[in-house]
Formats: sequence, C-alpha cells, structure tokens
Amino acid sequence: MNYGIIGGTGFEAPFKDAEEKIMHTPYGDTKIFFPKDKPYVFVSRHGADHTIPPHQVPYRANIWALKELGVTEVYGISAVGSLKKEFGPDAVVLSEDFLDFTKTRTNTFYDGDHNEAKHIAMDIPYDPILNEEFERTFGESLPRGVYVSTEGPRFESKAEIRFYASIGGDVVGMTNVPEVVLARELGLHYANINHVVNYCTGVSDEMIITKSKTVRRRIIEAIDKVFTSDRTPRES
Ligand code: HPA
Repeated sequence: MNYGIIGGTGFEAPFKDAEEKIMHTPYGDTKIFFPKDKPYVFVSRHGADHTIPPHQVPYRANIWALKELGVTEVYGISAVGSLKKEFGPDAVVLSEDFLDFTKTRTNTFYDGDHNEAKHIAMDIPYDPILNEEFERTFGESLPRGVYVSTEGPRFESKAEIRFYASIGGDVVGMTNVPEVVLARELGLHYANINHVVNYCTGVSDEMIITKSKTVRRRIIEAIDKVFTSDRTPRES
C-alpha cells in the first residue's frame, strides 16, 4: 500500500463502508480503513463517530501504522479556522509551514526509546510535489499558508487570535502538530490540505460556520485522482 489519507472532522463519510483493521503499534492501537480497490488507506483522526478529541488523537500510532503498511506519501486534511478575511469559509489553503502552540502531546518518536537524539529538519515540512499534484487535480490555484496548531479542544480567545495573526499565521487548527512532525520523522512525504470552516474568534463580526459538503467531496475526489493516476510512488 503506497498512499495514505488522514482525515479530520467531516471527512470520514466517504470511507464508512471501507474494510477496517485494527493495527497494533508500539504506541498503541489504531484503526485503518481500506477502501475497496484503492491504492490508499484512510485514517480517521477523531474516530468514525468523532469521539477522539484533538489532544488524544493517537498521532504516533497513526503514523507508525502507515509506515508499517508501506505508505510513503500522505495527505492530511484538516478543518480549520481562518485568521484572514480573504480566506473565508469553504476556502482551501495548502499548508506551507506551521507554528506550534500545542502543550501536552508527545511530539516525537525520538524521545529516548531509540537511544538516540535525532533532530529532523523542518525547513520544508509540507511536500511541494504533493501540493502541486493536488492543486492540479483540484483544478484551481490554491493559496499557501501558515498553519497555527493550538492545543484545543477549546476555541481560541480574541487576544490569542490577534497574536497568531500578528506573528504570521493564516489558519488555525488543533491537530496538524504533531502529525506533520511525526510523518517527517519517519520519512513520509506529507502534505496538509486545509478546509476553512469558520473565521477564527473575532476575525469576523458574524460566526459563519460552513456545513457545505461540496468542498469536502471535491478535496477527497482530487486526492483520489492523484493517488489513482499513472504516477510512480516515491520512496520514503
Ligand atoms: N480554531 C481552531 N481549530 C479549528 C477552528 C478554529 O477556529 N475551526 C476548526 N478547527
């Protein structure tokens, strides 16, 4: 199995009929979905019934299981809030970099268990090739942005949002760190597609939350097209 998709809130539905398998990893168990006749597997970050909060997602087990299956290229998909007026609800923004404001998560595979301290470069956390291939099959040129990862599960205060905007953030979510870090530690090519579902606290006077399924479906269809196209999977 060459490819993986890790989906956040609202992206579970297309995979509900896929075969499921519990995988045991040194970091706990996780459930992997195997859609029929596809060259990719799916992981549901919050569980199919949305019961796992962002700070309890089994990030290490998810990435370890993908690696064990032979996956080398991964798209993460995240529902995010927007710090920018110009990225309104239903905008799609590709992560280009991140700011980490998480607090309680184990964010490495190299925490002493392997008898080595390893420092992984984060100059290009998100894979430009996966980004470009997604953009092409999605059929639109898409903005790149800086993902601010918060601890959650609460939403942010207005002062926090002003601060995140002032230091260069574009979108805010609760899960992309440590996911991207762990993927890079195991050498996976990883990209993250952000679906803006609301303006962050205080960015707009109105609390607009999109419930549109159209963009979600388009995102999944575009990823499916990349992974089922005539391309050679890259090694990790
Ligand atoms: N903040 C943090 N995470 C989110 C948001 C938000 O406004 N919307 C969706 N995930």
